[in-house]
Amino acid sequence: MSQFDFSPVCNITEDQLEAWFDHLDIVFEKTPRQYFVNHWLGDPDRSVKDVWVVMDNATQPPTIASTVRLFRRETFVNGQPQKTGAIGEVSTKKEYQCQGLSTRILDKIKEVMKSDGTTLSVLHSSAKVDFYAKRGWLSTPKDQTKRSLSTMDVSMEGLSLEDVDVSDRDQASQLCSMHNEFTKKYNGTFKWSEGYLSLYIGAEMKSQEASTSWIRDESGKRIAFLFLAQKKGRHPDHTLTVRNYSALPQIDVLRGFTFRGFPVAPENHQEQVVYPTPLFEGDDREGQGIEVQRHVGMMVHPLSSQLDMKAFSEEKNVFWDADGF
Ligand SMILES: CC(C)(COP(=O)(O)OP(=O)(O)OC[C@H]1O[C@@H](n2cnc3c(N)ncnc32)[C@H](O)[C@@H]1OP(=O)(O)O)[C@@H](O)C(=O)NCCC(=O)NCCS
Repeated sequence: MSQFDFSPVCNITEDQLEAWFDHLDIVFEKTPRQYFVNHWLGDPDRSVKDVWVVMDNATQPPTIASTVRLFRRETFVNGQPQKTGAIGEVSTKKEYQCQGLSTRILDKIKEVMKSDGTTLSVLHSSAKVDFYAKRGWLSTPKDQTKRSLSTMDVSMEGLSLEDVDVSDRDQASQLCSMHNEFTKKYNGTFKWSEGYLSLYIGAEMKSQEASTSWIRDESGKRIAFLFLAQKKGRHPDHTLTVRNYSALPQIDVLRGFTFRGFPVAPENHQEQVVYPTPLFEGDDREGQGIEVQRHVGMMVHPLSSQLDMKAFSEEKNVFWDADGF
């Protein structure tokens, strides 16, 4: 007889939240517990009804053996927002692995999404692409361009920077509109609400060695927004990452100015910048100092007959780093 006594797939209650954070802390050894707490508290659309678990009732008290969390979002595909279940915190404690628990929870979540009108499920994983592919989430290309700043000289005349304050209602509203209008050209990007911007993205803005700026024209009008971070670790070599960018429709020549104007570190310390390749159409795809990197861990699972994998392509797929879940 098995030493375990697994419950059916079920939701946690509010008073199990601390135990759930503890579970994530144990399984994701390298990620601090606070990361999961922040993702929870910063999400205006959070609900314990979207936290799914299998319990082991053979222990006293029962132990969370495995979990998956559904993040409720809207994703732009061909200009239309799709009701989205974003999959995260997929984790089974070591002693319970390889007994089908994650598979059971993912199957249950798919059933829930299909019955509540969710049309798309997304997730990001670099190490477990095959695991998810077997379970219905298929890899779709996400390209990023890395290039040296010296290839990006553009006149800065007449433009200026202003710090963004998302606790200011007017700025939050303006940024949401600018972001949604701009980002709906791409597939895989999330639609922002003001609550999501001020809480979730707002926390991201504060969390790293980051800079968020409005770019203003000569008249002082805000014409673009740029969220840059200097990420140590993933791009350790003085590389800036564009975590989010948007601009009014007629604006497209800001890049040299904005990247060089990055206020976090002295200008000459930043040598390279990484951004989603579709961002600047018409750039040389490859050339001196320009490198296009293909990522395979953006995975999508269309759940409606209106939507299929053909919608997703390297020319249009973008996922903003700041929306990470
Ligand atoms: C990946 C993970 C969630 C699988 O959970 P699980 O409950 O063991 O999964 P299931 O029993 O339903 O499925 C087992 C599958 O996972 C694979 N698997 C199990 N443990 C694994 C591990 N430590 N590393 C890689 N693959 C693993 C098995 O080979 C099997 O694959 P297959 O059925 O596709 O051949 C679990 O190993 C885990 O929590 N790992 C650490 C956290 C993590 O990496 N999460 C994913 C973040 S994207």
